[in-house]
Amino acid sequence: MVSERAIGVFDSGVGGLTVLKELSRQLPAEELIYLGDTARVPYGTKSATTVARYAQEAAQFLTALGVKALVVACNTASAVALPVLEERFRVPVFGVIKPGAARAVQLARGLRVGVIGTEGTIKSSAYTRAIHDLDPRIQVRTAACPLFVPLAEEGWSEHPIAGQVAREYLGDLAAEQIDALVLGCTHYPLLKKILGDFFGSSVALVDSAEETAATVARALAEAGLLRRSPPGPHRFFVTDVPERFERVGGTFWGEPLVGVKQVEIG
Ligand code: SIN
Repeated sequence: MVSERAIGVFDSGVGGLTVLKELSRQLPAEELIYLGDTARVPYGTKSATTVARYAQEAAQFLTALGVKALVVACNTASAVALPVLEERFRVPVFGVIKPGAARAVQLARGLRVGVIGTEGTIKSSAYTRAIHDLDPRIQVRTAACPLFVPLAEEGWSEHPIAGQVAREYLGDLAAEQIDALVLGCTHYPLLKKILGDFFGSSVALVDSAEETAATVARALAEAGLLRRSPPGPHRFFVTDVPERFERVGGTFWGEPLVGVKQVEIG
């Protein structure tokens, strides 16, 4: 069995392109459809009920395009909406929390892991639960870093202000002698340089994109859902005007994002 249908990926904004990029690297034959809910970003400061509603609207949009699987690239939506998406939609649904937790457990030699994310993700304790499901001995320390999302969306990931914000948010965590730090928000891999400089080389930065893409690749192969024929171009949709998404997203997607379409969902 094969499936020529596309894989649908959504995030609150531009950050999920880190997951999309890894999916396109690991599954080069697949066609990908990306939805960035840029009109409503950030999700991380909203209530779990609101994020669950946004996530269902995004999933509804993608499934209406006939996708064969849904990848919830947004950590906040993965933390609070995965069960409702799995129940409501008939395609396999993949989140980013479990893969990120699995990678952190592999890297946590000293059994101390830090997790940074949005307020919603940290409040949900989803990473702490996922890590403890795999290894209950691990001590998990968490910190919410809400300003990282607008900084990344603005294209200021390496601006000195981002370094100053990191120092404010992460001073306590740096004192905890963690050996792995989960970048528990799709936008945070964009701040890898600043975070790496701040924590130093003894702390492994865990970006769940790679592990998530590997999980999707494995599951689709096992289910016989991988594509055989050459893919068409990836498609990009946003819920606000595309200019900022094209400008900021293009820099780390690695090539210009062309033909991004604005759509209404919900
Ligand atoms: C956000 O929308 O606040 C960030 C996305 C995420 O949680 O990964």
